[in-house]
Parts: sequence; structure tokens; C-alpha cells
Amino acid sequence: MRFRDRVVLVTGAGRGIGRAIAEAFAKEGAKVVVNDINEETAKSTAQELKKLGGDAIGVKADVTDYDDVRRMVDEVKEVFGPVDILVNNAGFWTIKKFTDTTPEDWERDIRICYYGTLNCTHAVLKDMIGKRYGRIINIVSDAGRIGEPYLTVYSGAKAAVIGFSKALAKEVARHNITVNCVAAGVTKTPGVEGFLKSVGGEEKLVRAYPRGRLGNPEDIANGVIFFALDQSEYITGQVISISGGYTTVG
Ligand SMILES: NC(=O)c1ccc[n+]([C@@H]2O[C@H](COP(=O)([O-])OP(=O)(O)OC[C@H]3O[C@@H](n4cnc5c(N)ncnc54)[C@H](O)[C@@H]3O)[C@@H](O)[C@H]2O)c1
Repeated sequence: MRFRDRVVLVTGAGRGIGRAIAEAFAKEGAKVVVNDINEETAKSTAQELKKLGGDAIGVKADVTDYDDVRRMVDEVKEVFGPVDILVNNAGFWTIKKFTDTTPEDWERDIRICYYGTLNCTHAVLKDMIGKRYGRIINIVSDAGRIGEPYLTVYSGAKAAVIGFSKALAKEVARHNITVNCVAAGVTKTPGVEGFLKSVGGEEKLVRAYPRGRLGNPEDIANGVIFFALDQSEYITGQVISISGGYTTVG
């Protein structure tokens, strides 16, 4: 119960990696806010989490819409109090050759991955500064560290999140707020099912992963918990890849 009564907001937590992160905090006694643009999965996930020991609410909001995000943060304050730990997890990726992408594709990838992170961080940060406590953990991708073909715009958007996180980490460290990134490699979620089929199945992709398997959402959640722990309070502005040895950059 290392996060008893901490208020944790996880975006895009109705399924996949976000859901595993929300579960990990619920098991540790946190008050978890399950955000998703899909109201049904946000609410049903929150119901499931309540069985794990923590308290939880599901809140629909579109992270790309600043007013909607502010409304969500106000609602959370009324129910649980201000957010202690923010996990910017909601993401979207377009898989196409860059020459085949459209400005609409760029807009979607950048708005969900980058603006979503900016909107949610901006909406909670003043309260964190006021309390002299905060943990912000951004879910990025190895694509944003080493680049991935056919994920060009997404790679750029995630690299933007990394740059933002490092800069903000320096700006807010004196307020006892840390900002770190967890970079996932290919992780088995509903969101990657189509991608796995398009590359000829999991077995083919696994060859690039030294550990010999693809990631599970729980692998990513473990990294998030690590950055949120009190013992990690001196670690900020860092990016950790969780991808079974696929990405080993310093
Ligand atoms: N799965 C992977 O292989 C992988 C690899 C690297 C990074 N990531 C990153 O991990 C995160 C989660 O990925 P996933 O595979 O679990 O995705 P997913 O598609 O399975 O789940 C994403 C969730 O985000 C929600 N969402 C989408 N747009 C939203 C919005 N505007 N506002 C609020 N919620 C929104 C969706 O409804 C969905 O429930 C993303 O940031 C993704 O870029 C995933």
C-alpha cells in the first residue's frame, strides 16, 4: 500500500497500458482517476479497480481539449482532492509511409500525444506546486528515442514529449515535483493488434527483442510505479526504456 490515499490520474486508462497502470496504483491503495475519451471503458475500469483495494472513479474527457481537461481536474478535486500523481498515457499513432500521411494524420498524432500531455500537465501543475509534491510520468515510445519508420510523425510527437519533460523537470524540481518518461517498445495492447497483423504476426517482431518476448502492459506499469515511489524523489528528467533490451541508448 505504498500509495495509500494518493490521488492518481491516468489518461487513456480504459484499456491497454493505461489500464494496467491504473490497476497497479489501485492495488497500492491509491485513489485512482480512470480517464478515457471512451466513457464506457473509463467507468467500467473504475468499477473493476474498486475491487482491488483502492477507490476509483471513471471520468470521460478528451485530453486534446484544454477546457474538457480543466473540467475533469475540477471534478477530481471535488471527489478526491488535487492530483498528486499524473500519468500522461493517452496516445495515438498513424502507421504509414510519411509521403502517404496527411495533415489530418499529423494533427491527430501530435494533438493526442503532445497537446494531451501539455493540457493535463498544465491543469494539475499549480496545485502540485502549492502542495510541494508531485509526480508526472509520461508514457512515450522507443520510437521517440531512436525513430521508427512508418511512425514518423508519432516518433516526432513522442520526442517532443521527452524534450518537454526534461525541461519541465528542471523548472519544477525545487518544488519537489519530478517529471520522468517511460518509453515502451511494442507492448501487447488492443491498440497494437492491427499493427501486429500488418507486420506478419508477433513471432516475426519478437526477433528484434533480445528478451525473446514483446512487452505486456504490466511491464510498463512497473516502470511507472518506480518513478512514483518516494524512494525515487531524486530522479527527474529521465527516460527509461522498457522493451526487453530493444532500445539501449544512454
Ligand atoms: N502498445 C505499444 O506497443 C506502445 C508502444 C510504445 C508506446 N506506447 C504508448 O503507450 C500509451 C498507451 O498505448 P496503448 O497501446 O495502451 O494504446 P490503446 O490504443 O490500447 O489505448 C489507448 C487508450 O487511450 C484512449 N484515448 C485515445 N485518445 C484519447 C483522448 N484524446 N483522450 C483521452 N483518452 C484517449 C483510448 O480510448 C484508449 O482507451 C500511448 O501513449 C502509446 O503511444 C504504446
